[in-house]
This record gives sequence, C-alpha cells and structure tokens, in this order.
Amino acid sequence: MERIAIYPGSFDPITNGHLDVICRASRLYDKVIVGVLCNGGKNPVFTPEERVDMIRSVTAGIGNVEVESFTGLLVEFAKAKDATVIIKGLRTVADFEYEFQMALLNKALNPEYETMFMMTDTKYSYISSSMVKELAGFKGDLTGLVPGSIINKIQEKYK
Ligand code: PNS
Repeated sequence: MERIAIYPGSFDPITNGHLDVICRASRLYDKVIVGVLCNGGKNPVFTPEERVDMIRSVTAGIGNVEVESFTGLLVEFAKAKDATVIIKGLRTVADFEYEFQMALLNKALNPEYETMFMMTDTKYSYISSSMVKELAGFKGDLTGLVPGSIINKIQEKYK
C-alpha cells in the first residue's frame, strides 16, 4: 500500500522551514501532499492560487510531492486523498501545545490518521510566515527565510 502523507498549513507564504519539512517528509513517505488551507480565519495576504503556485515552484524538483488547496476539515481532505498520516512541523514548545491539541482533536474526529511531528532544523526554528510578512512590510531582506526564487513575488505584495 502506498504511504501517503498530508502536510497541511496556511503557507502564507511558504518558508524555508516549511520547505525543509517537505523535503525530509518526502524521503519517509511514498507521496507527500502539501495541503494549502483556503478558508482559514487568518486573513491571508496571498490568494490560495498564489500560495499553491509558490509551493509548486519550489518543490518542482521533488518527484513525490503534490500541492493542492483544500477547504473544510483536514481529516476529510486526508480521506479524499487516501492519506494515513498528517505531518506537522514543530519549532518550539509553544507550537507543541497547540499542535498536540489539534492532533488529539483530529484523532477524535477520525482515529485512522496518525499525526507525525517533525522537529524543525535549528537553523529554521525562528522563521514563521508571520515574521516573513512583517519583515517584507518593512522592506527587510528575506534572504535565507524563504526560497530565493519567491522573494520577488513576496516583495511585490508590499510595494
Ligand atoms: O499553517 P497553519 O495556519 O498553522 O495551519 C493550520 C491548519 C491548516 C493545519 C489547521 O488550521 C487545519 O487543519 N485546518 C483545517 C480545519 C480543521 O480540520 N480543523 C481541525 C478541527 S476543527
């Protein structure tokens, strides 16, 4: 049976920390589907299409990664994609508390899915999409925080 994992998130925008988790997960599972949440309550800066396009462009070299947007419950998206694993990245203890609760809720909604936590590489532990957007708003240098090929795309939003 193919082992399919979902890596869900807002990805507003994708960061080098996200990309690192995607690369590492792609070595552990037959297929990794990056699920971009469309209807989250976070008022995203980038449209779902822009977020999907940016992730597709930076993961184009990884053969077993697909990128799709989704709406509604994560467990329903996982079911539709025949996935059995949900991947979550952890940077800090603060992340853990929220993610632990979310994993238990998803387990209660559908016990078939396992949430697998992947610790961030220490060099990415301080990076978040929110910090990237704040820095971009101040015209700061995004080098090292997000893939170099999407820096222009992000900066365009803040012109
Ligand atoms: O990058 P984020 O914003 O931290 O990702 C959060 C995400 C998309 C993983 C989470 O909000 C999610 O799974 N949303 C889908 C709705 C859902 O299933 N919620 C949990 C049960 S209410």
